[in-house]
Amino acid sequence: MCGIVAAVARREVSEILLEGLRRLEYRGYDSAGMALVDNEGQLQLHKVQGKVARLEEAQALDPILGCTGLAHTRWATHGPPAAVNAHPHVSHERIALVHNGIIENHEELREELAAAGYACVSATDSEVVAHLLHRAMAAGDSLFDALRGVVARLRGAYAIAAADKEDPHTIVAAREGSPLVVGVGIGENFLASDTLALRQVTDRFIYLEEGDLVTMTAASLTVCDAAGESVERPVKRVATGIETVDLGAYEHYMLKEIHEQPQALAATFSSGDGHRIRDAVFGDGAAAAFDSTRCVQIVACGTSYHAGLVARYWLEELAGIPCQVEVASEFRYRRRVAHRDTLLVTVSQSGETADTLAALRHAGAGEFLASLAIANVDNSSLVRESDLVFLTRAGTEIGVASTKAFTTQLVALLMLTIALGRRNGMAESQQQALIDGLHALPELVARVVALDSAIEELAGAFIHKHHALFLGRGVEYPIALEGALKLKEISYIHAEAYPAGELKHGPLALVDADMPVVAVAPTDELLDKLKSNLEEVRSRGGELYVFADGDAGFSAAPGLHLLPMPHAPEVLNPILYTVALQLLAYHVAVQKGTDVDKPRNLAKSVTVE
Ligand code: G6P
Repeated sequence: MCGIVAAVARREVSEILLEGLRRLEYRGYDSAGMALVDNEGQLQLHKVQGKVARLEEAQALDPILGCTGLAHTRWATHGPPAAVNAHPHVSHERIALVHNGIIENHEELREELAAAGYACVSATDSEVVAHLLHRAMAAGDSLFDALRGVVARLRGAYAIAAADKEDPHTIVAAREGSPLVVGVGIGENFLASDTLALRQVTDRFIYLEEGDLVTMTAASLTVCDAAGESVERPVKRVATGIETVDLGAYEHYMLKEIHEQPQALAATFSSGDGHRIRDAVFGDGAAAAFDSTRCVQIVACGTSYHAGLVARYWLEELAGIPCQVEVASEFRYRRRVAHRDTLLVTVSQSGETADTLAALRHAGAGEFLASLAIANVDNSSLVRESDLVFLTRAGTEIGVASTKAFTTQLVALLMLTIALGRRNGMAESQQQALIDGLHALPELVARVVALDSAIEELAGAFIHKHHALFLGRGVEYPIALEGALKLKEISYIHAEAYPAGELKHGPLALVDADMPVVAVAPTDELLDKLKSNLEEVRSRGGELYVFADGDAGFSAAPGLHLLPMPHAPEVLNPILYTVALQLLAYHVAVQKGTDVDKPRNLAKSVTVE
């Protein structure tokens, strides 16, 4: 993970770098740093443990200024969060370097450098790169040539930017396996891990390809490909102003993003067409690929994986298409057997998750019929490397715990279910019912969001608990998983989810008055089975927190707390109940006083393996 920002300009850039880091903090926030080449040609450095706000404090107390600079916000992989491990890493007070990714052969490089008299002061894998650059330059290389030689020796994944105080108006960069974009300004140039970091200074971007190297000054910009040939990469204009990253009246991004769901869901569905799902919304060539699709393989991580689990129920039950779902970190390393007419579907908010991207890349030639990416970020690596693309319209999601991205993924996956289902005998009337449901969805979600205060009241019962159990059956089981994930991510309460029928095979042993049990219990064909499972909990003294609609027949009673949900078409329940569980996790975390938007140890975009 980690976020990189760099700038070379004719104006002072420290505030541009800090603003970029604030916008990149979703990528990691355990330490931060910034290096500038000042007017006297000296490297100036601030590094702090903790969030970007601490770097701002350091800058306010002791400002460092310059027209060329690099900055970084870190999510620790090698070496604990500490100022010494924060980037930029410096070699001989001359070279400054920021890195995102993992250098897998850092130990052997470190030994080689030690033999040459270079001592690493940090425990990171990144610092070796700064010293390797210095060694190459001491032997006469230019900064760019040094970088080209050094990256050829690196194994792993990297986005790197470096500056040399002896060449104070130049920044060089390289990318392999970790995202990096160039922001093209007027008489100034920038680099960042994503476009969001630079929207305040430019709307023109170059998305670097794997293996690209960059050298830039305020007035010039050259990109070379992996073979060292100078190449023209297209400059793309990214519309500004569509996405607001301000908190507005909300206390946290997570709450804002939960509230944005009605609009985000409507926008995602409106990319279809009011009356039928057009194949073209999945990209050119979707119709032909869908005609031949006999199976679906979904690959994703985290919350996006849970969206895939829901889609399996939909694809098999509604469209009659066999579907497998797997976490990308397992899928990528497993010897697999796929039916030859299988559509590979990757699901990802960021489009940059390293394991999901690797799963796509490692899918053998000819192993799958075609690849479809369902992603929220245009021009992300998954989007660029997949045959077909559906862009969710969640807008920028800042909170580390994914909310609106998940529910918009579900809309996309339901649209895919309809598109495949109509080729597989799904009745017109059923297609229409699903489409009508999608039209009704934003309004229903708004009704769940309006339950905020009732859910806030329930939350109080969780804040002193150490564990919680989430139960669901059928398609609501993945929603129980997602509810448990939300709670553990932001409140640090250990939460587990079970398909309720599995209770008696183990987790029932854990049930007592200290273990709140949350049940996802809409009216559906498995409701009676679920009720029996819940009785098993009650008769053992467990406290139940039941999310159910009026028809489900629950009444509040000692040991049973009821959160009444709106009645809705069955297919929409996974989305509606998710929103309620998002609010539950949110309020528990707020009442516990944890950092809701930036929970400890996590990052939003996981671009390392
Ligand atoms: C991280 C985030 C999760 C997200 C997962 C997958 O773990 O904290 O919220 O679900 O990555 O990310 P993606 O961008 O691929 O959906």
